[in-house]
Amino acid sequence: MADNLFSLKDRVIVITGAAGLLGRQHAEAVAQAGGTPVLLDLAAESVERLAGDLNARHGVPASGYAVDITREAAVESHCAALLARYGHIDGLVNNAANNPKVEGDGTKNFSRLENFPLAAWDADVAVGLTGAFLCAKHYGAAIARQGGSIVNIASDLGLIAPDQRLYRKPGLPADQQPVKPVTYSVVKSGLIGLTRYLATYWVEQGVRCNALCPGGVENNQDPAFIKEVASRIPMGRMARPDEYQGALLFLLSEASSYVNGAVLAADGGRTAW
Ligand SMILES: NC(=O)c1ccc[n+]([C@@H]2O[C@H](COP(=O)([O-])OP(=O)(O)OC[C@H]3O[C@@H](n4cnc5c(N)ncnc54)[C@H](O)[C@@H]3O)[C@@H](O)[C@H]2O)c1
Repeated sequence: MADNLFSLKDRVIVITGAAGLLGRQHAEAVAQAGGTPVLLDLAAESVERLAGDLNARHGVPASGYAVDITREAAVESHCAALLARYGHIDGLVNNAANNPKVEGDGTKNFSRLENFPLAAWDADVAVGLTGAFLCAKHYGAAIARQGGSIVNIASDLGLIAPDQRLYRKPGLPADQQPVKPVTYSVVKSGLIGLTRYLATYWVEQGVRCNALCPGGVENNQDPAFIKEVASRIPMGRMARPDEYQGALLFLLSEASSYVNGAVLAADGGRTAW
């Protein structure tokens, strides 16, 4: 058995949406385990700063790049540049998402299915699904040179329907009530399909692929909303942002060497109820 089952020493792990709330936590987990996080997001400044901070605190050669994952040319050329810089890519965390908003503009609620603009559908699918496909296509093919791990960040809402009662606003007529947009469910369910596809696709090259389904993170939401969500969770609370680090590290490292095609819910038990 390896000295440290959870070690990512010398492994280069690409993380998309790395400047976001959870992306930076994923990067922290990888760096703490001795891996080299490669941070991708839309703006260079935030990921370059985060990478510099990780290098200073963990002594790993992390790096940050502006790569719009919906643009294949950008993903393809970045993948080539990364291989030239590090020589290998060992993991991919498909984490970026648009996270479509629930609120409307006061007169018409655009989150509702009847009003949901095609452009919003296209934009959400482009980041959450097409972006994950493009990253799998390019970084995944690089990982298949020597084996590694792909983790798709889905959601508890990839497993269950959103409970639209959580978003209700008193006093609004039914056709203006905010809802969790349809794209969230579709993108997160689609990532689970992509997970199963990838779990078998490069299996002979030693590539495993699993989905991680986080539950909602407490992040300055309205206290009444937090209380309502918590009441639907057996553990009685929303997650802290750092509470997915362990599950991610498990799926990226040799600790999960026989785990492939799995859909791991880390949701305080919400989908058990
Ligand atoms: N926060 C939660 O409560 C929660 C719960 C369950 C699942 N998730 C999932 O976890 C992941 C991270 O969530 P988060 O809360 O950190 O979201 P976030 O919005 O804070 O971060 C998402 C990041 O993706 C980046 N991004 C958007 N489009 C991009 C593109 N085209 N190319 C590159 N980067 C792009 C954004 O700039 C942003 O930094 C998402 O997939 C989300 O759906 C989050």
